[in-house]
Amino acid sequence: MEEFHKVRRLPPYVFEQVNRLKAAARAGGADIIDLGMGNPDLPTPQAIVDKLCEVVRDPRTHRYSSSKGIPGLRRAQAAYYARRFGVKLNPDTQVVATLGSKEGFANMAQAITAPGDVVLCPNPTYPIHAFGFLMTGGVIRSISVEPDDSFFPPLERAIRHSIPKPIALIINYPSNPTAHVASLDFYKEVVAFAKKHELVILSDLAYAEIYFGDVPPPSVLEVPGAMDCTVEFTSMSKTFSMPGWRMGFAVGNDRLIAALTRVKSYLDYGAFTPIQVAATHALNGDGSDIAEVRAIYKRRRDVMVEAFAKAGFEVPPPEATMFAWAKIPEKFRHLGSLEFSKLLVEKADIAVAPGIGFGEQGDDYVRIALVENEHRLRQAARNLKRFFSSADDTLHNVISLNARR
Ligand SMILES: Cc1ncc(COP(=O)(O)O)c(C=O)c1O
Repeated sequence: MEEFHKVRRLPPYVFEQVNRLKAAARAGGADIIDLGMGNPDLPTPQAIVDKLCEVVRDPRTHRYSSSKGIPGLRRAQAAYYARRFGVKLNPDTQVVATLGSKEGFANMAQAITAPGDVVLCPNPTYPIHAFGFLMTGGVIRSISVEPDDSFFPPLERAIRHSIPKPIALIINYPSNPTAHVASLDFYKEVVAFAKKHELVILSDLAYAEIYFGDVPPPSVLEVPGAMDCTVEFTSMSKTFSMPGWRMGFAVGNDRLIAALTRVKSYLDYGAFTPIQVAATHALNGDGSDIAEVRAIYKRRRDVMVEAFAKAGFEVPPPEATMFAWAKIPEKFRHLGSLEFSKLLVEKADIAVAPGIGFGEQGDDYVRIALVENEHRLRQAARNLKRFFSSADDTLHNVISLNARR
């Protein structure tokens, strides 16, 4: 029987191949250090868990909830935007709660895309940015990730040579997987570009709060006039270590938010009310939980970068996100990111995400997620060192002779 139309557009998740190897190695007794998935290992702050437990005892909260989010939650998200970005949002028309930002993004794609519509999407990028549109019959045109002057000339060309004209531009800063961070000046140019070409901007700001420098990442909605054409997605998953709770937001342009709200009203009844109340409590907090999470990732970043460099793997320190984007050491680069990642599982007991899983432009890289503690990161570096020093003698079949020192 022929594969279903939609399913044919979804190749097997590349990460699954590494996951399968990882599971097999663990079943064989290996202690795999898992830096693969961006699945935060930190517990959700106790006060948020306590609020959930308190609210869940009230049977009134067991009924269907509100698809667009309870009013207090939408108000809390609007207050966060006012506090953090100086952006004023109407909680009734410019904010919708989503079942994680991934769901929000995918359903926004569904809401605004007609078959054959062209969308400008970074490569490499978090997979839902492309597949959200591919699933709804859209067409992807890849653009660059680097948020500097080199971003615009290829974008101009992409617009000029796309038929039909693209409808939307996806941006994601701080970026998963590359950890690039955008400035407000860059966003000003993006907004001007989008207006000139009548594009919708979909901005994924999932890592708004995971940054290590002095300047917090801006929101594109800070640009005057951005509200005319922009929706931005944020997530509780990383900020409050709540990945399993499935809580995120879309905010911005009224018409776009109304389209997403309409689609969602047909699909879901919103997150479980106790989760929405606990999320409200989190957003209305004093920010100390966020600062703690940030500090933990920063320490891990520093430990990993230093220890990996000593082991012979130079990894640029990310300025934001919980990921490092590392070029594969030269002598292994010809293998491609998937084979290199498999080798790391088999020979070094380390799982990473192969860059190819984020788009073909990522194949010279692997993504290292900071989701194990400092001790385990140092252990990973020791494993790497052992692997690198024995590779020349043990991997004749994968390291070509001219690549050997
Ligand atoms: C860039 C980016 N966007 C969205 C998501 C999904 O987040 P959520 O858990 O809110 O669906 C992730 C998760 O890793 C991400 O890295």
